Amino acid sequence: MDQLEINKVNFMKNIYYVLTIIILCSCSEKDNSKKLFFDTNSNINLEKEDSKNTVLNVNSDDSMLYDKNVLRAKAGKKIILTLNHTGKLPKNIMGHNLVLLKMNVDVNVFSKLALEFKNNDYIPLNEDFIAHTKMLGGGESDTISFTINEPGEYKYVCTFPGHYQMMQGVLIIY
Ligand code: CU
Repeated sequence: MDQLEINKVNFMKNIYYVLTIIILCSCSEKDNSKKLFFDTNSNINLEKEDSKNTVLNVNSDDSMLYDKNVLRAKAGKKIILTLNHTGKLPKNIMGHNLVLLKMNVDVNVFSKLALEFKNNDYIPLNEDFIAHTKMLGGGESDTISFTINEPGEYKYVCTFPGHYQMMQGVLIIY
């Protein structure tokens, strides 16, 4: 091959690389948007939107996670929220609850305080929360209902020791 041919080959190689990168980028972009779309959908739980109540379901399991970190509900409508523990571990090892905090309550401060209330299933004896489920072990569920009139963002958290960093979410009232 003479120099011109080598240059041509290199040029084609470069074009090939650039095209590959463009294709890869557009694919991963597509994947991201799909994932985002999927996540957004799975995070938003608006069953029975047109009826009197908003029904919300959150699952938790032995991997110490909620399956939804964003919930949405309309202001002034009764919210019926169920927490399921779909794992197998018992309550004293992998207990989960869902404590919905009042607006502007610091979730980290609240969760640290909760550690002092083991005898009350890690629910502080204060008025910083709107509602909470029972502490659940694997296979258990609990349903609570409440109404929030003021639009805004309300944090929820699992107060079992060591869980609050991983198990947090926000209920958006609109
Ligand atoms: Cu937990």
